[in-house]
Amino acid sequence: MGWKTLDDMDLNGKRVLVRVDINVPVVDGVVTDATRIERIVPTVRDILAAGGKPILLAHFGRPGGERRQNLSLKQLVPTLETAFGTRVRFGDDCVGIEAETAAANLGAGEVLLLENTRFHASETKNSPELAAGMAKMGDVYCNDAFSAAHRAHSSTEALARLLPACAGRLMQQELSALEAALGSPKRPVTAVVGGAKVSTKLDLLGNLIEKVDYLIIGGGMANTFLVAQDINVGKSLAETAMKDTAAEILSKAETTGCQIILPRDIVVAEKFEANAPTQILPVDQCPEDGMILDAGPETVAMITEIFEKSQTLIWNGPLGAFEIEPFDAATNAAALKAAALTRSGQLVSVAGGGDTVAALNASGAAKDFSYISTAGGAFLEWMEGKTLPGVAALDQ
Ligand code: 3PG
Ligand code: MG
Repeated sequence: MGWKTLDDMDLNGKRVLVRVDINVPVVDGVVTDATRIERIVPTVRDILAAGGKPILLAHFGRPGGERRQNLSLKQLVPTLETAFGTRVRFGDDCVGIEAETAAANLGAGEVLLLENTRFHASETKNSPELAAGMAKMGDVYCNDAFSAAHRAHSSTEALARLLPACAGRLMQQELSALEAALGSPKRPVTAVVGGAKVSTKLDLLGNLIEKVDYLIIGGGMANTFLVAQDINVGKSLAETAMKDTAAEILSKAETTGCQIILPRDIVVAEKFEANAPTQILPVDQCPEDGMILDAGPETVAMITEIFEKSQTLIWNGPLGAFEIEPFDAATNAAALKAAALTRSGQLVSVAGGGDTVAALNASGAAKDFSYISTAGGAFLEWMEGKTLPGVAALDQ
């Protein structure tokens, strides 16, 4: 990988355009999860410590090229000031003479945050003109937005080609964690993939069967694999149209030496409701009016054994319908096992994806994982083996 880091750049007295991802959840003007903001602090601090002037570029939501007050980044200024422990000035637009002046006049130790890049429709078109406008404000470009690196946008891609470019601290961390998990992992390597649909994770499954030793499939998508084996899944969520594709994945895995793990026993309910009456049944005994909502204890025991044999674990997607109790049981139990093995130094564990991180946080396991990515879509695309434009543009 040919990308530079902040350590390779001369930052003293330089205006550093930093692409960050502070697309955090906000409810009634209050940031409900500041993780993405906390994770960019090292980059901002290191730039300030080297005498540089951090000028933050970011998107917020999907305003579709319109100025939308509820998607203004201005509302994040207090949270940023607390996180950075310094004054954060705000510029009303991410390009133009006012932004240029604000960047030029930034005081020592201060940070400038510019308005939502997606207020310009050309941002998401990767417009070189918009990028050129941004480049006027900086001497150096630093991309710290791994979680937006799957987007080829002006601030993530085109801009990297116009200035001396480097990766920020969070970007470095994300890339090295993913490299350890899937690039050159210690074997055996296990992947957990869950979620509702096979159809949205075909590329992922295709890449993983080439790379991992054990592939544990959970969630609604496991049902489709059961259907592919002519197992009746009752009223469960399953994509019957994907039956043949699932069967192909199963047979291809045999040739690549990847062992696919499907549920052996299931937690079934008639309704997807909190504390609905449940039954634990062997996988092939789902009643006609039953819904498979989680993996059963025997399956969890089998997963636990695989984790014990593994050296590396990469996790994307819950094992059951974790949003509602008790269907979070398998996810929680497996996650806590992974956390314990990580704590004792036996396992490198990496997880990413919005739902996944929510589930691992709820189980209390997240804090003991080796690495929790801030990325959703970008994490998935990386796991699919795709090139992320924002990362590729740093490779110059
Ligand atoms: C995210 O929240 O996943 C990233 O910030 C990317 O946002 P996007 O999906 O709107 O491009
Ligand atoms: Mg997304």
